[in-house]
Order: sequence, then structure tokens, then C-alpha cells
Amino acid sequence: MHVENLTLAYGADEPVVTGLTLEVPQGRMTAIVGPNGSGKSTLLRGMSRLLKPQTGRVLLDGKDIHQLPARELARQLGVLPQGPVTPEGITAAELVSRGRHPHRGMFARLTSEDQHAIDEALAAVELADLRDRPVDQLSGGQRQRVWIAMVLAQGTQHLLLDEPTTYLDLAHAVDVMNVVHAAAHASGRTVVTVLHDLTLAAQYADNLVVMGGGQIAAQGRPVEVLSEELLAEVFGLRATVVEVGGAPVVVPDRRVSA
Ligand SMILES: Nc1ncnc2c1ncn2[C@@H]1O[C@H](COP(=O)(O)OP(=O)(O)OP(=O)(O)O)[C@@H](O)[C@H]1O
Ligand SMILES: [Mg+2]
Repeated sequence: MHVENLTLAYGADEPVVTGLTLEVPQGRMTAIVGPNGSGKSTLLRGMSRLLKPQTGRVLLDGKDIHQLPARELARQLGVLPQGPVTPEGITAAELVSRGRHPHRGMFARLTSEDQHAIDEALAAVELADLRDRPVDQLSGGQRQRVWIAMVLAQGTQHLLLDEPTTYLDLAHAVDVMNVVHAAAHASGRTVVTVLHDLTLAAQYADNLVVMGGGQIAAQGRPVEVLSEELLAEVFGLRATVVEVGGAPVVVPDRRVSA
């Protein structure tokens, strides 16, 4: 994916993202981090056609996403938005099966290939035994994992995920990151994911993009990007960065009065 000179705004408001250019490495995992309100979700919307850019374009395998028919785009690009709204009464398996829509005819029943993709996605997030449960009766973390399964079942070459590990306990967050990492490294998919946990992002991402004020503040290998200076500058965070197993770990300084 190639993002070129992208300017994104809501209505007549001042642009949130201005003239942003980003080359997303193919078949690798890119993590986007940055403070609240820095434009991460807006950028993902711009990259997935949920928000029409004021300037610039997004190329998917060399093609402008705004020139592709919606269905064609959905076969190539899977998107998990931040805080998706669950349709009422839908079961886990039904929600995941929606990921197969772009592959099906208008009234076609699920093929064995669809069924296989659904089963595999539910298994990947360890929810096979809850498949017939209504999603609104699941815990926040289980619900989040159903949504991730839906995007995985879509079987797209490109994945855009907005905070897929929110609501997850650390063990399940790591499980999801393993699944997402394997989507890139074992299956050759291109993954872009917004994350808040800097240490988790640094552990998994091949490419780390740090956003600040609608711009890219830094980009590169996590170990090169995540410095104490950058954390102070972009996040206003005082922290110590240590390296464990080649990846940076962020330890925030305690700020307590005596
Ligand atoms: N639908 C919208 N209409 C108008 N302004 C919006 C809308 N969504 C986001 N914004 C504004 O755009 C800016 C960037 O928001 P965005 O959601 O992209 O931030 P973010 O980096 O994803 O933050 P967070 O970490 O909190 O998810 C914010 O100032 C926000 O108020
Ligand atoms: Mg966001």
C-alpha cells in the first residue's frame, strides 16, 4: 500500500491529517502509534475509503482505492474499525460469516470454502466453543476477538486494524498479535494496525509509524524509533526505554509527590 500526500478532514473542519505520505511494506506488519487525537483512526479511514481525501490518493497494488468497485476492494482490504457496533442478536459465527460477503453471490449459501474460513478464523481467536452465542452476551474481550475473526475470515491480502487489542487481557492481546503477525509473516499479508501499547507494538511490528498532530513524527524499526526523546516530544511522556531481546520496552517514570 502506498499513501501519497493524503489530506483528511471532517466536513468543513480544519484537516486532521495533512499531506501525509507513507509507504507500507508489503507482507509485513506496520504498527501506528501516537497520542489520543493524533489522527491514527482518521488515517486508517482515509486508507480504507471510509473518508474521502481532500488531496492525495491511496494505492493498493498500484490501483487507487477510490477507482475500485466496493466489492472488489472488500476482497482485497479487510478493515476493523475502532469500536465497531455489533448488530443486535447476531451470533459469533453469523458475525464472522459476514466477512465472507464480498466472496459470495447475492443469495448464495455458504460454500465449504466459506465455512472453512469461518471455522479457521474462530479457532484462531479461540472462540470456536462460543460460536453460537449471541455476541451481545460475550465479554468485551470476547466480542473484540469475534470482530477480529470476522476480518480474518474475509481472507484479504491487506488488513487495517484499529486497536485490535483494546479490551483484551495481556495473554489474549499476545494471542491476537501472534495471529496478526502470522498473517504477515506466514501468509504474506500486509498488516497495518493501530496500537496503544508501545511495548507490544515494538515487540511485533516490523515497521513502527509514530503519529503526532496528524503528521508522521517518526518511522522505522521499533528499536530505532522508540527513544526517550521521542516519547517526551510526541507523547509528553517521561519514560525509560530499555531493550529486551532486541526490542524496546517502555517503562514510564513514576510521577508522585513525596
Ligand atoms: N467523525 C468526526 N467528526 C469530526 N471530527 C472528528 C471525527 N472523528 C475524529 N475527529 C477529530 O479528528 C482528530 C483525530 O481523531 P482520530 O480519531 O483520528 O484520533 P486517534 O489518533 O485515532 O485517537 P485515539 O487514540 O483516541 O483513538 C480529533 O481531533 C477528533 O476530534
Ligand atoms: Mg483512534
